[in-house]
Amino acid sequence: MGIQYNEKSRVFKLDTPKSSYMIGIVDEENFIGHIYFGKKIADSDMRYLMRLPEQLPSERPRDRVSFLDTIPMEYSTHGVGDFRETCLRVRTNSGHSACSLSYVSHVIYKGKPTLPGLPSTFGKEEDCTTLELICEDAVLKLRAVLVYTVFEHLDAITRSVKVINDSEDTIYLTKVLSACLDLDNKDYDLITLYGLWSKERMINRRRITDGKQRISSLRGVSSHQEQPFMAIMEHDANEDRGEVYGMNLVYSGNFMAQAEITQLTQLRAVIGINPEDFTWKLESSCEFVAPEAVLVYSAEGIGEMTRTYHDLYRNHLIRGEYKDKKRPILINNWEATYFNFNTDKLLDIAKEAARLGIEMLVMDDGWFGKREDDNSGLGDWFVNESKLKGGLSYLVNEVNKLGLKFGIWFEPEMVSPDSDLYREHPDWAIHVPGRTGALGRNQLVLDISRKEVRDEIYSRMYQILSGSNIEYVKWDMNRSLTDIGSVSLDADTQGELYHRFVLGLYDLQDRMITDFPHILLENCSSGGGRFDPGMLYYSPQIWTSDNTDAIDRLKIQEGTMMIYPLSAMGAHVAVCPSHSNGRITPFETRGYVALAGTFGYELDVTRLPEEERNLIPEQVAMYHKYNDLVRTGDYYRIASYQNNQEYDCYEVVSKDKKEALVTFIQVQCRPNYRARRIYAKGLLDDCLYRLEETGEVYSGGALMYAGINIDNMWGDYLGKLLHIMAVK
Ligand code: GLA
Repeated sequence: MGIQYNEKSRVFKLDTPKSSYMIGIVDEENFIGHIYFGKKIADSDMRYLMRLPEQLPSERPRDRVSFLDTIPMEYSTHGVGDFRETCLRVRTNSGHSACSLSYVSHVIYKGKPTLPGLPSTFGKEEDCTTLELICEDAVLKLRAVLVYTVFEHLDAITRSVKVINDSEDTIYLTKVLSACLDLDNKDYDLITLYGLWSKERMINRRRITDGKQRISSLRGVSSHQEQPFMAIMEHDANEDRGEVYGMNLVYSGNFMAQAEITQLTQLRAVIGINPEDFTWKLESSCEFVAPEAVLVYSAEGIGEMTRTYHDLYRNHLIRGEYKDKKRPILINNWEATYFNFNTDKLLDIAKEAARLGIEMLVMDDGWFGKREDDNSGLGDWFVNESKLKGGLSYLVNEVNKLGLKFGIWFEPEMVSPDSDLYREHPDWAIHVPGRTGALGRNQLVLDISRKEVRDEIYSRMYQILSGSNIEYVKWDMNRSLTDIGSVSLDADTQGELYHRFVLGLYDLQDRMITDFPHILLENCSSGGGRFDPGMLYYSPQIWTSDNTDAIDRLKIQEGTMMIYPLSAMGAHVAVCPSHSNGRITPFETRGYVALAGTFGYELDVTRLPEEERNLIPEQVAMYHKYNDLVRTGDYYRIASYQNNQEYDCYEVVSKDKKEALVTFIQVQCRPNYRARRIYAKGLLDDCLYRLEETGEVYSGGALMYAGINIDNMWGDYLGKLLHIMAVK
């Protein structure tokens, strides 16, 4: 059992295989204090960690403020003495904002509850144990349930919060974060992932110093700019050594994550829905559920944290038929044709693709309504038969006859002002009455917080999806939310719109995957603008970035892989000069880089130079040879091009440690330099391994500690794979 309660000391102890987490109920006021989170320890009562001299209960009530401002808290509340970042804030009918939580009772049980309307990790009774701490503000009659689940085989603890109004009055929630972590400050560093369109998830590592370091999104999506994730680590921690704490929010909308050094040099880290522009009207007897935060502890560096997230998300977040399956190699026509295609053009691409071993054709933007460019048509999800002569079924059947599956693009959350949908229902767009809303890519955002809007959009999609043999959907979302207003909400509830929008999105995707369980869903948001654990609950893969240049992708994929499994990372071979930056890279290198993810093509295969086209069957075979390993194995970062600016190297090792694949990309040739040495990771010291390329046999120890020489290659942007197999 992963969770124990020591009644005498009133301490809860949550254990994962290598970590312990302790919560203590403090004295007669029943505060819920945080005692410890770190390497696994045997003790079950370490309350002394909360008892700094100035916090002694006898000092109170004379100095309750300094007590509350310094005690490590599990879930701090606003307005009663804790001046650090708090998690819960209210507004009462009389305008007050203070609240305070005291422990009332608890339950511990096997398994893990789902969160109504929200994505979350899941586990069977044998996988996990859950603790619900029920607490209340007796003055407000507001109940909060702090939910913790520990996974038996992974160093992961999830947290979520449910707030219930037991009073007769309406209470407004103005801030409900999901998790708080009070740690003693050991001179920590912080990693966050920042970026912009076409440059998502760059790694930013810096020292945590005095004050607050916050990342957030107010764009309505998790965003290209920041990722709902942060890792706090010892200053000298690296890929393989040192303590690391990861916090990741299973949510796809506005968030905040913050690390703060307090006056006593403690560290408080919080994560949750961004409180800016958030208010939730909680009527009597109603409840509000905050999204899940996933906490991962590693005593063995960033790499171990990464592998825990990968295993957790592959096994306990991603669902559906493709969860554990190889994905079909697809060819997408976006960079091949943009909006300029018709049935014949798509069939030409499909014919050539089928001949080369590609398994699915994806028809991207432009097949519906009036959509010759990105200025019109969104919302009119009816086939444009002047482009697709003979209709969609004809095209799909012809593609199927060639032995290819067929996939299609939608952007369901959007409407173009120049569309029949908008002309019919202008009030269906999110807007502030009287204000001309800001356009993004010449489009507006639909108010999918409203059921009638979701129903109509979904019924249009349903018609398309049920009318032909469609086996894949790319679900796009190409602008941020602005001019926040819904005609269905009043002054009291407008502050709910951002969150209701995300709930509407989850509802729509849930409907689709329930009605069409065979469809492979790939999420996308102008590339990787909504690459988060929330979306992974609905789609096993997400388009990583619109940037398809193999070299830029190295950095983007490195940041993405720090949290998310390789199986989830949409990655395609595209044409050169790259549509993203004009760079020319060898076709082989583009294949190696795409091999890290789902693998596919984003080009016009009929116009590809002969020599490159001839390489496709080899790349297809490479994908089939290695994808099981890449999709299911343990990922190790060996060298970071983000850091060294010269080369990129990572490895995937099978769970049984019998097979490994090292991908090495030499971004820059080093003149007068024979070889670079890289050090394999994750192998068995005494096992003998054969390097497929040379046939040489070495022990795992030799490959890991003495290293492998990779000859300098003549030219930039060259790559190679090293396949390592245990000798039987
Ligand atoms: C977004 C996506 C692209 C493509 C276009 C189509 O930018 O990220 O992959 O689908 O939209 O308009």
